[in-house]
Amino acid sequence: MSEKSSNKGLIGWIDARFPLTKMWEEHLSKYYAPKNFNFWYFFGSLALLILVIQIVTGIFLTMHYKPDGEMAFTSVEYIMRDVDWGWLIRYLHSTGSSAFFIVVYLHMFRGVMYGSYQKPRELIWLFGMFIYLALMAEAFMGYLLPWGQMSYWGAQVIISLFGAIPVIGDDLTLWIRGDFVISDATLNRFFALHVVAVPLVLIMLVVMHILALHEVGSNNPEGIEIKNHKDENGNPLDGIPFHPYYSVKDIVGVVVFLILFSIVVFFMPEMGGYFLEHANFVPANQYQTPEHIAPVWYFTPYYAILRAVPDKLIGVILMFAAIFVLFILPWIDRGKVHSIRYRSSAYKWLLAMFVISFIGLGYLGALPLSDVRTFFARVYSIGYFGFFLGLWWISKNEKTKPVPERIQ
Ligand code: HEM
Repeated sequence: MSEKSSNKGLIGWIDARFPLTKMWEEHLSKYYAPKNFNFWYFFGSLALLILVIQIVTGIFLTMHYKPDGEMAFTSVEYIMRDVDWGWLIRYLHSTGSSAFFIVVYLHMFRGVMYGSYQKPRELIWLFGMFIYLALMAEAFMGYLLPWGQMSYWGAQVIISLFGAIPVIGDDLTLWIRGDFVISDATLNRFFALHVVAVPLVLIMLVVMHILALHEVGSNNPEGIEIKNHKDENGNPLDGIPFHPYYSVKDIVGVVVFLILFSIVVFFMPEMGGYFLEHANFVPANQYQTPEHIAPVWYFTPYYAILRAVPDKLIGVILMFAAIFVLFILPWIDRGKVHSIRYRSSAYKWLLAMFVISFIGLGYLGALPLSDVRTFFARVYSIGYFGFFLGLWWISKNEKTKPVPERIQ
């Protein structure tokens, strides 16, 4: 038996061959997290829960779904009407994708509010951003699979954006689609990517995200480094073991989340056309463009930026830039203080402007175009990018409040 394990019996036997107890202690029972986690710290574990829900329901959907241009739409109808509990599995999966983005947006916002992306947590943030990208790719490709009108035309609009890239644009769109139009070939490859490739990448990234977190330790609402004050055993004085304290706290979050999630799944799975768009209950028709094409709500802020710019190429560049700036946020923010609680009022105004702009863009991106809406989309786009510029500007010599040494 390994000298490291004090366990006997089966666990001791396993410990001699696999670091079971070691991993349990390192990541749960002896992982010290700050004692002041609040509401905003529920969303990491909830994102994990939704990832599991999506994978499990996805596996069962795959058992009955047909990735074939002739059969995809009807196979989804078959799941909804004939497969036992098929409607539940599909609604869990479709509601799960929107819930995923709600939870991840709140999780990211928490990171911004408390400066969790700042040194030494830049890599946690970067892994998070790659997760966000993978999640967007996963949702986009999943949306083609029901092969409804919005699946088809939404994909058509987004893929054609790549055509705006000079020189290689046309060849690139052809390569992505695998055909001159969105067709069975596109559906097949999106299926493969949605079901196998991207989930694998997502799981790997989530593991790296959490490993990076456990390497440097969690931030907290005060933005104070708990590792600076340790007891005689080397444990942070302002920390508590993740298990049982936060495992129990997280269960409370899970129960509340599941209640809200069930209400949506059972009573309003379409969410007024926001979670499942009305046009997607009509089979894909290559010869008939729907009157109004809009992506699902979680993409609409970026779609609004795209449409706010008259030139297609510049629109595409700005849309990608809107995501790229988030990647470099740890280096844009030159401030020393982490938490919003100790930052200047200029910072708070900037952050408020960012939130209003992001929600405003999201709202406008779901609506048909009009002159007034385009005007507001431009104002909000300036507000969106203005946050990052402003933050870079003010954070160098920001007048902050003194940060306490210890968590009260
Ligand atoms: C599948 C998606 C994701 C999962 C499962 C996930 C999971 C987690 C978990 C379990 C934690 C620790 C608990 C907590 O602090 O809430 C965490 C922390 C963190 N996550 Fe994520 N995450 C995801 C996406 C993201 C994204 C998209 C970002 C940002 C771009 C991000 C940034 C962070 C940061 C900065 C922390 C450290 C927070 C702190 O210590 O204050 N995560 N994540």
